[in-house]
Amino acid sequence: MSTKRVSTTEPKHISEEKLFIHNLVKRDPRAGLAEDVRRGLTTQPKRFLPKYFYDELGSQLFEAICLLPEYYLTRAENEILQRYADEIVATVAGPTTLIEMGSGSASKTRLLIEALLRKQDELLFMPIDISATALESSSRILLQSYPRLNIEAYAADYFAGLAELAKEQRTHTLALFLGSNISNFDPEEALKFLRALRQVLHEGDALLLGADLKKEKSVLEAAYNDALGVTAAFNLNVLARINRELGGNFDLRAFSHCAVYNQDAGRVEIYIDSNREQTVTIDKLDLQVQFSEGEQIHTENSYKYDLENIGKLAAATGFTRAQTWQDQKQQFSSNLLLAV
Ligand SMILES: C[S@@+](CC[C@H](N)C(=O)[O-])C[C@H]1O[C@@H](n2cnc3c(N)ncnc32)[C@H](O)[C@@H]1O
Repeated sequence: MSTKRVSTTEPKHISEEKLFIHNLVKRDPRAGLAEDVRRGLTTQPKRFLPKYFYDELGSQLFEAICLLPEYYLTRAENEILQRYADEIVATVAGPTTLIEMGSGSASKTRLLIEALLRKQDELLFMPIDISATALESSSRILLQSYPRLNIEAYAADYFAGLAELAKEQRTHTLALFLGSNISNFDPEEALKFLRALRQVLHEGDALLLGADLKKEKSVLEAAYNDALGVTAAFNLNVLARINRELGGNFDLRAFSHCAVYNQDAGRVEIYIDSNREQTVTIDKLDLQVQFSEGEQIHTENSYKYDLENIGKLAAATGFTRAQTWQDQKQQFSSNLLLAV
């Protein structure tokens, strides 16, 4: 396993013992961009996995999305955590370890870290994120803010990170899955993910699950198709990433971003549309890909939930939905799932 401690060139107040990063991304076949891109572009309909949005630029673009007026999700979840963080952390007894899946910049996590540090002297935070750059920079920023914090981080796909966490014994754990990251999973994958997460928890431990709620089509479609075009840039960056990392020659101006709410399936579907008939070459894959005019690459789904769905998902995966908090506009839900 490739591991990394902060180097001695780091600011002095972050001691080497405070940050430990396990970098599993390179050895994890599920993080294999090349193979997944080949598979995705040679099947019909064409598709990519959403985890590939998050290279260094993609992670930064996501941070910009969180500031957009149309993207209400981050503000709504932040409002809930501002208000209820103490109540949330009180649900797990004793000194608690904090785990977070897909932590990104961990901005909202600060509210829970602060609540836990009001309750206990020290805190071990264990974030897992596929984006090694986001993980490292967010960890450094957190350690500069909180002297009583220690971080053991995994740059890894969720499942690879969870397999590592399952090898360690912890006493009390609060796990976080914020930002409605759960929305990217199809129903079967969501079950598989929550079961894997349940394996690293003990009875009485808790998972705080952020889930975006079903609402009007116009609000949902605007959230994924903002007027400034930041979400379009985030989506098309996957093509730019393939150009950078795999020697592709996608002409980004010949593709467009598309987001539609599929009410029957209860999900916003995100696509990249080919604006014309074209052939793209990807050197490192020795691959030529034909696109017809209007042909789509399906890049992401964002499933929207109602509280009944969340309760059923919890019950099917070894949890019970103990409590749900919502923002004032009732757009977003933070669900406390207790491991049973
Ligand atoms: C939508 S962002 C949310 C970030 C943060 N949790 C928030 O609420 O603002 C999704 C995060 O999950 C990470 N991620 C996406 N797919 C992943 C996967 N399969 N395994 C691990 N991390 C993943 C991304 O790198 C990104 O930081």
